[in-house]
Amino acid sequence: MTEASTVSSKKPLLAALAGERRPRPPVWLMRQAGRYLPEYRAVRGQVGSFLELCYTPELAVEVTLQPIRRYGFDAAILFSDILVVPDALGQEVRFVEGEGPQLAPLRDRAGFDRLDAARLHDHLAPVYATVRRLAAELPPDTALIGFSGAPWTLAAYMVEGGGSKEFWTARRFARQEQHLFGELIELLTVSVADYLSAQIEAGAEVVQLFDSWAGVLPPSEVERWCVEPTRKIVTVLRARHPRVPVIAFPRGIGAGYAAFARAVPVQGLSLDTTVPVGWAAATLRREPALCLQGNLDPAALLADERTMLAEAERIVAAYGTRPFIFNLGHGVSLETPPEAVFRLVAYLKSLPG
Ligand code: CP3
Repeated sequence: MTEASTVSSKKPLLAALAGERRPRPPVWLMRQAGRYLPEYRAVRGQVGSFLELCYTPELAVEVTLQPIRRYGFDAAILFSDILVVPDALGQEVRFVEGEGPQLAPLRDRAGFDRLDAARLHDHLAPVYATVRRLAAELPPDTALIGFSGAPWTLAAYMVEGGGSKEFWTARRFARQEQHLFGELIELLTVSVADYLSAQIEAGAEVVQLFDSWAGVLPPSEVERWCVEPTRKIVTVLRARHPRVPVIAFPRGIGAGYAAFARAVPVQGLSLDTTVPVGWAAATLRREPALCLQGNLDPAALLADERTMLAEAERIVAAYGTRPFIFNLGHGVSLETPPEAVFRLVAYLKSLPG
């Protein structure tokens, strides 16, 4: 077999993460499954709680597949949530309708000591079952993405006790209780590496680390709580599963993306909405094999079709010279008309492949 035919036999998303450049970039969207889809709301209505949906493989498989059937994305992302990890470690996690996640806040040594990493795999067994079923059911060209929250973002929710605009409590705790916070980050680093390894063993072909709140940290703390733990996790995963690519999403770190790309041996780097397309293309040109992902503003899907497609075209043009996965700069918003996603995907699929 020639080199070219070996390479082209890969699923498009995996080819991009292996450093291949395609005129038609593969596409998936963060939060592609969710409440903007009527068929998701119908399944969600069958269960009492959001976590129950995450832990019922039959239903989690169904909602993972819904956007694949509708749009033919190049990847399916496991339907779950980043907060299943604190839940698995024994912290109380609840999703309150209209208010988002609520956790029993972890603010002292006693709270930390109550966490129990030994429960992780038993508790998350339904997630692994979902991954196994998805691996068997997906269309042949669709890649399966597993995921986890990164340690800083998980710790931020655990300490804060829920979502927050600025995470003041978590940021103060990280400074005032540095030692204890460091132990929490270390526990999460090991747990996340084990959790993602188990997803890979169950059939995930790519894994993504969501560090959604890295952007509330100053650069020195980005280095300590985001870059360093992520580097450790990626190093462990590369040793255990050398062929499985890792995508990192250190959302909001701005110019820190450059140092992140140099320090962390990831295959994919997901760019948030604040990253100028020209800046990333120029700044990361010394990492030519690194696959970039992003970064259409989710609000573009709420605009008229011409405006949305003009923004998408600009992104495709800027990243066309390197390995690239088309995505949003953050998750699909609740108000998104399903038709807008259809138009976006139709445009991307119309590009010469
Ligand atoms: O389609 C997919 O992307 C896969 C599923 C997925 C969900 N959450 C489903 C979900 C993924 C990858 C996540 C990741 C996640 N969860 C992140 C990282 C990405 C990001 O958005 O920054 C974060 C920070 C969370 C935590 C979380 N989960 C919040 C803040 C909320 C409430 C906000 C909201 O939209 O209600 C959730 C709940 C959640 N996770 C829902 C879904 C579909 C909605 C809950 C419901 O259906 O009742």
